[in-house]
Amino acid sequence: MTGAKTAVFIYWLLGFGVSVFADVWKVEVESEVKALEGSCVVLPCSFKYPGVVQPSSRKSGIWHKEKDWNYFIFHEDRTQIADNFKERTKLAGRLGDLNCSLEIDGVKNHDNGPFCFRVELQTSVTDKYSFVKNCVRLNMIVDAPPPVLHSDDSVHEGQPAVFKCSVRHTCPSHQPTLTWSHKGKELVTYKDIGHGNWEVESILSFTPTSADDHTNIICTVQYHGLRKGYETSRPVFVKEQATYNHILIPSICALGAALLVGVVCFLLVKRYKKRIEDLQSRNDNSMFSRLSRMSRRFRSGGNNSESDGRHQRRSIWGRFSRRGHGDQTDSNLDKRSNKTGNKPRMPSPKSQAKSSSGHDYDDDYTNTADLNIYGNA
Ligand SMILES: *[C@@H]1O[C@H](CO)[C@@H](O)[C@H](O)[C@H]1NC(C)=O
Repeated sequence: MTGAKTAVFIYWLLGFGVSVFADVWKVEVESEVKALEGSCVVLPCSFKYPGVVQPSSRKSGIWHKEKDWNYFIFHEDRTQIADNFKERTKLAGRLGDLNCSLEIDGVKNHDNGPFCFRVELQTSVTDKYSFVKNCVRLNMIVDAPPPVLHSDDSVHEGQPAVFKCSVRHTCPSHQPTLTWSHKGKELVTYKDIGHGNWEVESILSFTPTSADDHTNIICTVQYHGLRKGYETSRPVFVKEQATYNHILIPSICALGAALLVGVVCFLLVKRYKKRIEDLQSRNDNSMFSRLSRMSRRFRSGGNNSESDGRHQRRSIWGRFSRRGHGDQTDSNLDKRSNKTGNKPRMPSPKSQAKSSSGHDYDDDYTNTADLNIYGNA
């Protein structure tokens, strides 16, 4: 002990941390660890001893029953191990790292413990220490826990979906494996969640299709040492891209239809714009004036074919030069038609517009042009 204290002092002076050394025997374990029957369990353990650090070869670790110090569940001399634990135990950690964690495989329901760690140092004077005040009790789990499965509440077609499957366990030396019923990208993580408990989580991501609707996603856990797998399933309801299609498609259709109608209207308007304008100007001429013109024409004795032809020619001309030129011609024409004195006849659509007197020529003229345009249309 004196040597140890001196060594500590020297190392402290040299600036090394003193934490590596301790002047007491100390062990850190979990007083109770859950163990899955048939599987494996690791009892976490770390220890300290007084004095300088010994090489691994000069210390040995032993685990024994709390009540029976000679009932070895683990010993470096395997022949010393109780029959019930032979081939089932090994140190999971390295004693050189002051890690005394013990792995028990093929856990049996009577492996309850409590179990205690003992360290033996092969120093000049052999130091042995059993940490019987800090022993570990095993809490047996008979029914293997199924995995916990999480998924999004709603899964949408064509959008990546994520499923999480996890299990807690106490055997980090042989982690349980998680498998999925559906193909996808898997990401597996192992976490030490403290107090000898570990968690394996597998995240599955895939893009669901309508074929996945009303199917089950199954996550299966396979614990080390157990033949059977344990599964958890969850139904999947894939929401169609309805939210988009039911809005987008009708919108596009409506827009397209509106565009089409618009284009057609535009073309129609363009094509018949002139016609519409003419219609409007025609409406300006009241029915009365037209009737009175007709009656005047009857009285004046109608028209002959010659004047018809001339009138037509004038109308075509009139389309290009609306005013002025026609006046004289027309009045001549009127005089001539008066002289001819043919028998009155029913006016043809063309002759209807013919003027019989000079003063209402303007109206008449316009109408003639209209008629010709309609005739052409
Ligand atoms: C001891 O070893 C075990 C098994 O390798 C490991 O899981 C644990 O983290 C180690 N403990 C410490 C304190 O390093």
